[in-house]
Order: sequence, then structure tokens, then C-alpha cells
Amino acid sequence: MIEINNLSKNFGELNVLNQISFNIEKGEIYGIIGQSGAGKSTLLRCINGLEKFDSGSLVVDGKEIQHLKKGELRQVQKEMGMIFQNFNLLSRLNVYDNVALPLQFWGQKKNSPENKEKIMNLLRLVGLEDKINSKPAQLSGGQQQRVAIARALVLDPKILLCDEATSALDPVITKGILDLLIKINKEMGITIVVVTHQMEVIKQICSKVAFIKNGKVVAVGKPEELFVAPNKEIQAFVGDNAETLPKKGINVKLFFANENSEAHLITTLARTLNIDFDICQGKLENYRGTILGSLIINIQEEDKEKVYAFLKQHNIIWEELV
Ligand SMILES: Nc1ncnc2c1ncn2[C@@H]1O[C@H](COP(=O)(O)OP(=O)(O)OP(=O)(O)O)[C@@H](O)[C@H]1O
Ligand SMILES: [Mg+2]
Repeated sequence: MIEINNLSKNFGELNVLNQISFNIEKGEIYGIIGQSGAGKSTLLRCINGLEKFDSGSLVVDGKEIQHLKKGELRQVQKEMGMIFQNFNLLSRLNVYDNVALPLQFWGQKKNSPENKEKIMNLLRLVGLEDKINSKPAQLSGGQQQRVAIARALVLDPKILLCDEATSALDPVITKGILDLLIKINKEMGITIVVVTHQMEVIKQICSKVAFIKNGKVVAVGKPEELFVAPNKEIQAFVGDNAETLPKKGINVKLFFANENSEAHLITTLARTLNIDFDICQGKLENYRGTILGSLIINIQEEDKEKVYAFLKQHNIIWEELV
């Protein structure tokens, strides 16, 4: 659906995007994560043609965005809905009229039977059918974002671009919005691109993620691959640091594919090898319903070889932390 190849962009002297390459498949929920200033919003604006880039290629649904004439670009933009952190609703318009706005931009009547039905269906989808006459100021943040989502869907887009769509919301409201995005993806088959600096958002809904740092892609993969066994760049981002671990002995991180399969591994390890060790850190994480975990233990130097042999024998993925 979206193919990005060696895309680079500068703002004057500043290189903001550097040789970005990755592909987003049709029907996927794809995450783009990175620190503030990494270039995420700029990349999203390149995808929907609001921003030009200097070199490389960006193909959306078979069309090279940069080469389109104005009218053609507008047509492609019609197929990309967008939502933002601050909702961008018009305060003087009620919910119905805010959702109807893109239709009116395209010269359609907001109250035609067909459009009325479409808007009401969308308001039902986002759970706001009883708020059609409310103004944005009378709605909570989560409700305002639901209006923005309905508005983004009113032109039947193939792609929904979300720029920090949940960053202004509390965790419970965020969960509701993320569940709604999953529903839209499943029921309407819309490809969703989620830009965020929140790991939780990626974990809860994305099947794939690109991690961006200083305008470069430093990792691409499934969230569970990237975050459960993170590389150094991602460790620094998620704040998984080794500073709190013991300085003596050897710290070993074990990875578990699910919450139960390795239930007795640790006690078996101690009993079988007849050794002592410390348990330093452990966590279980939920990736779209799949539970994955990690555990850091501190072993003594002289036990190293037999512990590693034991882990290998039990098919445990592990790494020595240095
Ligand atoms: N119109 C512009 N003119 C000049 N520099 C810009 C412009 N827009 C963005 N930048 C710069 O480009 C870099 C990337 O900005 P961008 O907004 O894409 O980052 P981001 O990853 O979305 O950050 P955040 O998480 O804070 O939203 C920043 O250094 C920013 O200052
Ligand atoms: Mg941004």
C-alpha cells in the first residue's frame, strides 16, 4: 500500500529524513515510533503529499506521490484520512457538521439521504450517535478524537494516518481509541499508520513497527521482536538500562514466548545445576493478546558454562548483558 525507498528530506541545512526505506502492506496497522524531533510527523506529511522530499521515492497505492499533478494528488489525498493529537475540530460546528466537512469540501450536500446515512453510521461506529448536536467544547478529549476519526473516515479512505492520536489522552481513554482503530482496521479493511512516541500504543495495536532516530530507520520488525529483545538504540529509547543491575557476576536475560511454558525453568535450573543465583528483573508484556516475557538473573562467573548449556538444552533464548 505504501512503499518508501531511500527517502531523504532537508529543511534548509537540517537533514530531517535520511534514506528512509520500508513498506506498509495493505490492511496492516503499522507503527512509526521515535523520540521528539526524530522526523515522524514530517514522514507522515510526505506520505500524504503535504510535504515535498528531496530524493528517493514514495509510492502510495501504486502512485508515485511526488510526480502527481495537483488534481491527481488531491484524489490520492482523499483516500488518506488523517487524525492528530489536538483533534483539529472546528469549535463553532456541532459533531454532525464537523464530520460532514470533508464531504462539503468535495461539493457534496451534508444532508442528502445518502450522506446522512453515512454520517450516522460513522457516528454509531465511534459511539457518538447521541452527541450529534454537541459542540466540541461540550465533549471530552476522547469523544473529540472519536469525532475526528469519524470525520477522517467520511470520504471512505483506504488509509488512515494517525499522528500522536492518543498522546493527549489518559490510558483508559487511549485504550478505547486504540480498540476503535483495531475495529476500523478489521471491519473496514483500512490500512492504518500510527505515529507515536508511546511504546504502549505500538504494543497494543501494531503488527509491525519502524523505529526512527535522527531521521534514520534504526530498526524494523514485529513489536515483540523489537521490544522483547531490543537492540542498543531501542534499549536507550525504552529506558531499559543495565545501571540498576549488579556489577559483580554475570547478568543474563532470558526471553519467554508465553507466560506458562517456562513456568518451572528457574527452579529447575537451580535444582538441576545445584547453584545459587539472584533474580534481578522480570516482566510480562501483552502484544496484541500474546504474552511475552523476560527475566534477568545474575549468576556467578564459575557457573556460566553450565548455565548456558542448560539454557541451550531447554531452547531458551538468552543474552549476556554487558
Ligand atoms: N517546517 C519546518 N521547517 C523547518 N524545520 C522543521 C519543519 N518541520 C519540522 N522541522 C524540524 O524537523 C525535525 C523533525 O520534526 P518532526 O515534527 O517531523 O518530528 P517528530 O518526530 O514528529 O517529533 P514530535 O514527536 O515532537 O512530534 C525537527 O528537528 C523539527 O524542528
Ligand atoms: Mg510529530
